[in-house]
Amino acid sequence: MKKKKIVLSGMRPTDKLHIGHWVGALSNWVSLQNEYSCFFMVADWHALMSEYKDSSRIGKFAFDNVCDWLVYGVDPQKSIIFVQSDVNQHLELFLTLSLITPLGWLFRCPTFKEQMKQLKDKEINTYAFLGYPVLQASDILLYRANYVPVGQDQLPHLELCREIVRRFHTLYKNGVFVEPQPLLTSTSRLLGLDGRKMSKSYDNFISLDEEDRTLERKVLSMFTDPQRQKKADPGHPQNCNVYTYYSVFQPQMKDEVEDWCRNAKRGCVECKKILAGILREFIAPKREKKRGFLKKKDYIYDILREGKAKAEKVASETLQEAKRTMKLL
Ligand code: TRP
Repeated sequence: MKKKKIVLSGMRPTDKLHIGHWVGALSNWVSLQNEYSCFFMVADWHALMSEYKDSSRIGKFAFDNVCDWLVYGVDPQKSIIFVQSDVNQHLELFLTLSLITPLGWLFRCPTFKEQMKQLKDKEINTYAFLGYPVLQASDILLYRANYVPVGQDQLPHLELCREIVRRFHTLYKNGVFVEPQPLLTSTSRLLGLDGRKMSKSYDNFISLDEEDRTLERKVLSMFTDPQRQKKADPGHPQNCNVYTYYSVFQPQMKDEVEDWCRNAKRGCVECKKILAGILREFIAPKREKKRGFLKKKDYIYDILREGKAKAEKVASETLQEAKRTMKLL
């Protein structure tokens, strides 16, 4: 049997997960599990690089996020699920790669420049934050990942990782690391209830464990086609966020919903009520399952302990090889 290619991805546990994370990342992780040997990592050190003041939140959300991964279909029988800070090798390779990463590469990184502009209040002008992509490179290289599923915004980090690999190989020896390829997550991005990017800070999100009551209220607050003022006005589904939600969560209803809208057969409120029901059916069983997990915390901790052991085994081999190559004692 051909050996499966390796995938590694991570999420920063800075908050609870919402349906935008499901559409943009998690659903993709779930389907990759059959074809690849997958490592899914809670990037808690990365989260702390911007949220170090409120460090207790990170541990809390790490646990909560892992519960969501599991109830939404990340399978510990198929994939290795672990916490970055549980596997010390990440920090050791981080320093090793820091030795050879020129400061210019980091200062020039577009995500760094962007974040410094945007997150002024977070005080991320720290030594560690500048090294964010170097730690990310360690995450990827320790497992010799062939593919890294990421969004468009992470491409500069992947490129930097590849440059670090080439520099290591030129300086010491070829073939120690694998140059990873990005696996771009499909373009469908789910916008928030108000049509902006879905985000906790805009309060326009639906969580992956949203309660039925708040779910209906949130869906009813969604913006629809602004040109359709009255029920009798024909609408434009392509300009309607509600229609996009249908195409993601109930694609087989697309034509029907388009007909309701274009031919003014059903009003927006009714259309949203039906959508709320669809989302409720999607979310409620997972929410209840998660409730069970939260009562049996040990089940989650066992999975993470096992993930740590498996990840550590691979990571320590790669790190040893890197150190041997550098002829450390
Ligand atoms: N930087 C990534 C993000 O913000 C999270 C992350 C950390 C990651 N380490 C990783 C993603 C390794 C892929 C591979 O989304």
